[in-house]
Amino acid sequence: MKNIDSKSHVRGESVYLDDIPLIHGTLFACVYDSPVAHGKLLNIDTSQAEISEGVVKVITAKDLFGENQIGGIIPDEPLLAYDEVHFQGMPIAIVLATSEDLARKAARKITAEIEPLEIITDPRVAAAKGELIVPPKKFKMGDADKAFATCEHVFEGRADINGQEHLYIETQGAYAVPTENGGIKIYSSTQGPTAVQRAVCKVTGWPMHQIEVDVQRLGGGFGGKEDQANAWAAICAVGTQLTRRPVKYALHRMEDMRMTGKRHPYSADYKIGLNKDLKIISYEAVFYQNAGAACDLSPAVLERTLFHCTNSYFVPNVTATAYSCRTNLPPNTAFRGFGGPQGMFVIESAIAHAAEKLGMSASEIQAKNLLENGDEFPYGQRTESEAITSWKQADAKYDFARLQREADEFNAASRYFKKGVALMPVCFGISFTKTPMNQARSLVHVYTDGSVAVSTGAVEMGQGVNTKIAQVAAKIFGLPMEKVRLHTTNTLRIANTSPTAASAAADLNGQATQMACETIRHRLFEVAKDLVEAETVRDLSLEGGFVHRRGERTSLDWQTLVMDAHLKRVNLSEHSHYATPGINFDWTTAKGHPFAYHVYGTAIVGVTVDCLRGRYEIDYVKCCHDFGSSMNTSVDNGQIEGGIVQGIGWMTMEEVVYDAAGKLRSNALSTYKVPDIYSVPKEIAILPLATDRENLAIFNSKAVGEPPLMYGIGAYFAIRNAVKEFKSSPPYEGGVAAASADGVVLSFDAPFTPEKVLMNLYKT
Ligand code: MTE
Ligand code: MOS
Repeated sequence: MKNIDSKSHVRGESVYLDDIPLIHGTLFACVYDSPVAHGKLLNIDTSQAEISEGVVKVITAKDLFGENQIGGIIPDEPLLAYDEVHFQGMPIAIVLATSEDLARKAARKITAEIEPLEIITDPRVAAAKGELIVPPKKFKMGDADKAFATCEHVFEGRADINGQEHLYIETQGAYAVPTENGGIKIYSSTQGPTAVQRAVCKVTGWPMHQIEVDVQRLGGGFGGKEDQANAWAAICAVGTQLTRRPVKYALHRMEDMRMTGKRHPYSADYKIGLNKDLKIISYEAVFYQNAGAACDLSPAVLERTLFHCTNSYFVPNVTATAYSCRTNLPPNTAFRGFGGPQGMFVIESAIAHAAEKLGMSASEIQAKNLLENGDEFPYGQRTESEAITSWKQADAKYDFARLQREADEFNAASRYFKKGVALMPVCFGISFTKTPMNQARSLVHVYTDGSVAVSTGAVEMGQGVNTKIAQVAAKIFGLPMEKVRLHTTNTLRIANTSPTAASAAADLNGQATQMACETIRHRLFEVAKDLVEAETVRDLSLEGGFVHRRGERTSLDWQTLVMDAHLKRVNLSEHSHYATPGINFDWTTAKGHPFAYHVYGTAIVGVTVDCLRGRYEIDYVKCCHDFGSSMNTSVDNGQIEGGIVQGIGWMTMEEVVYDAAGKLRSNALSTYKVPDIYSVPKEIAILPLATDRENLAIFNSKAVGEPPLMYGIGAYFAIRNAVKEFKSSPPYEGGVAAASADGVVLSFDAPFTPEKVLMNLYKT
């Protein structure tokens, strides 16, 4: 079944923030942001901006009625800088003008006197200076130290992983409209309507019931709008509070890239110990997370790095320590995988390191250490593992040995082009690791004409959550999809929402919808029972728009039943609440059962590297993926394809570059390369894992939003394998002699851009 938005997307009729008709008198905001990464803010001169054409107001920190604070986890992030600036791009002043152009023109006339302070961009430097966002976090199982002494092989190294720009097609933005009695309605491009509402309340000083946040859909979020949509909504709200006029701000691409945070770069040290049978006996990792200048969601992201630091492997002795390091970069934030991918990259590096030293394929070590059913994760939860099953089913379907042999044969015959193959198993936990966030609500109305309206806390951002929720309602009422309509995500209809994140939106909001629909259906059955002379409601079902009695269609159709129920004064609406059962986590012991379930999968990735130019192509990504039992294969396959391409982009061509002064050099699409149609894998094959295990997902259809991104990590190691092939084959005539491939000759440093590939090919 197609995504319900596909037609309006293709026709350009889908409504995004920028498509909302503007109200007469709307003002446009633009921010003056810090030109330096760290300094004392001595003076702000807004005088020239104030007399600039079309300007209605210039706002600085001193004009705010409420608190100058938008920090979620820790209150460490002023909306507008007042005494210090902490990163380049930090908002200092807001200009409101009668047009977008005039607002931008005026903002450029603002100047600030800033006394420079020391700039830190490296998380290890920050850690050494004690610049931590929160105290370090630790996971411990067994005794890693002791266990290393018993290991046959021990390897130590370092892995560096860069950030990633979200590059949602729709940039950040908001539109605030005054309502009566001092209220504000805010249209926001946010994954977290309630997060926006809270931030707006803080800076305006108004109570939550005065602020309505409404979200139609996003042109992509990918985590970048989980928390970081708040500032722009707060800016618009403050503008509306001070002028009582509608205020809109939609960021230009370069403003967005400069002012918003990205995926967290990490630097990590690892130590891995194996016994003679290649079982990983002990693993130690220290993670330095580059949090940027404020907390944002960094501690939660850091936690997920720990949760996924052993990926799909069982390791009996683990010590993992993680530091969230404060630097002078824009605060980094959620990004598909939420810190998990970085944790996985490090253990995959450690395994590749061991394999290279031992002169074997990493897949030999991977295969020997996959989680078995009932194995314990370092955080105490036991797994219902599909790690081995997904590996075996992928192997049976794609034949890993054959793919490797094909690459070997190609390499033997080719001097300048080399193929590399790598396997990438993935295990990803589903649920917010902060247990209280695992709740959702749904409001279902059945109207007297038989049409159904559903509102939930889920935000549609291209991932198809609205399609899945509509499917839930359609299925329970036995109606065609056209009878069900999903409405905007709105804080008046659904309050206290968790953001649409952690891949859990369909599970949480879908199950709340299921409950609401079942409640209404039960009431309808009570009415229908007499009409169709059934003995008990248990004999009744709804299918194809008709009431069925013991599986046989009756003459009572849906619409007649609904109208009859209404005339009998039966409630045709329901507001239901769902909270994931059975989950918990205790940070004092760092143990618990944080996840409703895990999603497993195994991918094999093949690449061809052009060893003269450093360029490469991704030949294929073939995976066996654990969907549980997918309720929408078209939406889910789309998530797999998109996730894989985004993961490959992060691992290969996307390079976020800040210079030592904390200035973003990759600040536009001319200097930041994301995958295009020419760089996607030539083949993506998806095999659904065959399993009949029950799980806690909606209709047994497991969450799919984030896990596939991590298959992309395989591309890094496949390229690495191709590069090693070249370096271990004889140098071509007249060329530069390549280094021999004995031992580890390459550092682990993602992304593997073509430039880095080239330098590695000829580094001696
Ligand atoms: N797919 C599209 N098309 N656009 C997005 O912004 N975000 C991803 C993923 N897939 C995203 C996407 C992220 S980061 C998450 S957490 C999930 O979707 C959130 O939606 P879900 O909970 O409904 O899976
Ligand atoms: Mo996704 S990173 O949890 O928004």
